[in-house]
Amino acid sequence: MSEQYRPLLHMTPNSGWMNDPNGLVFFNGDYHQFYQYYPNDMVWGPMHWGHKTSKDLINWQEHEPALLPDQSGMCFSGSAIVDWHNTSGLFETGKPGLLAFYTSFIQPKVTLADGTEVENPIQQQSLAYSQDGMTWKKFANGAPIITARGNPDFRDPKVIWHQPSQAWVMVVSCGQHIEFYRSTNLLDWHLVSEFGYRHGAHSKGPWECPDLFELPIEGLQETRWVLVVGIGEGAHCGGAGTQYFIGDFDGETFTNHNHPETLLWLDFGRDYYATQSFSDIPAEDGRRIVSTWMSNHQYSLELPTQKFRSSMTMPRELFLFEGKAGLRVGQRFVRELNQALSLDVQTPEPSDEQAISIYSLKEVMKFSADVTLQDSQTLHLNVYQDNPAYFEFIGVEQGVEVRSVRRGQFGTERIDQHFPHDYRVTLPIENEFQIEVLIDKGSVELLINAGQFSFTNLVYAKETQASVAVSVDSGSLALRNVQVSSLAGEKTC
Ligand code: FRU
Repeated sequence: MSEQYRPLLHMTPNSGWMNDPNGLVFFNGDYHQFYQYYPNDMVWGPMHWGHKTSKDLINWQEHEPALLPDQSGMCFSGSAIVDWHNTSGLFETGKPGLLAFYTSFIQPKVTLADGTEVENPIQQQSLAYSQDGMTWKKFANGAPIITARGNPDFRDPKVIWHQPSQAWVMVVSCGQHIEFYRSTNLLDWHLVSEFGYRHGAHSKGPWECPDLFELPIEGLQETRWVLVVGIGEGAHCGGAGTQYFIGDFDGETFTNHNHPETLLWLDFGRDYYATQSFSDIPAEDGRRIVSTWMSNHQYSLELPTQKFRSSMTMPRELFLFEGKAGLRVGQRFVRELNQALSLDVQTPEPSDEQAISIYSLKEVMKFSADVTLQDSQTLHLNVYQDNPAYFEFIGVEQGVEVRSVRRGQFGTERIDQHFPHDYRVTLPIENEFQIEVLIDKGSVELLINAGQFSFTNLVYAKETQASVAVSVDSGSLALRNVQVSSLAGEKTC
């Protein structure tokens, strides 16, 4: 059944509510993607872990929820790993299995001295295990393996194997900082360090959904450690955003290589939150692939979809590059996307000196082109015919200023206040750059310079047939290598 804003390419729950990606892991030839899930309504509720698998990161098959809320609490975000050598002792001898680390959340009522009853939120880290990835059991009936720390916000454990120091490491957010734990048996964990006071972006809310991994620097025989942290409000352009730090990690301590006040954002759009990377991707593949919730806590509950709420971004591959302003993390669409798309034969020539318009009858479009911006020229990139969103590019001293404008009124207060935007970001790039836009019934992902910088935004057009129009306000339009592609066949999401 076709629903007005059901994306064709991006992963969505068949019905109900979804937020953060959880437990991303590759096991026995399948990518497993779990997610914060509430099947009984279109808004956030008692959290389950929904479950989908894919062989190609594009087609997803939905399964029974893996984890359900019970007396041990709701199942908040977390991660999964393959326990290859049955280190945990939870599996059949000699067989690997999956472990999922998640936050169990309970809110017992406590009575204050004056007799009033209040809720006392408690977040603790729990463990679940599965021999085949499909049926899951809570370890010790969901009892915590790391108990509450006094801070009501203590959540979203990400577990990795740290090869040099031969230990498992867990990063967890606690208030507005990250805690690092170590373990050798995956069951007993001890706190070894903290990071975050005075570093990066802070706001009223807690830090959330951390991730930690090592990335090679493109073109060099060197690596750096990257710590990813979600900030639920107060990000660079309003509401939730995903920041990162680049540095070193010795198995215990993360050292930020930048000034503590340096702010680095993984994406410059409004709808990019809770990024997590897949664990256990085979070494011969070697990619660091991430999935991200494509929404924003400011208005996620009111988005105008019908049977489901929220989708994930197109999975992306992260890379580290040395840019004009220093080392940065970039992200390109996974190469599997190309197999799902076919090039449109009629790739257009610029229609006149100043404009090019591509109207599609289809709802998925990928458009890419090389752009040369002339002095004091503004380049407009409009998506969709009724123009609910556009970008403008203008050369400035420090690089190229990108203006992102989005419109949309839906009839409820919160979303009507927070959804529209008009902000500017200066990117440290030259006047010659490449743009790549993926449009899919309700979202626009713009990548610049093969993913060095990205803008991810939900966009709801009246007519969802994809279109792109590029124009300049003066001089001529210097576009080269224009390519347009659309969906090659049927997809399952
Ligand atoms: C981020 C988040 C996580 C939490 C989950 C609850 O979107 O707030 O910190 O685990 O959502 O659904």
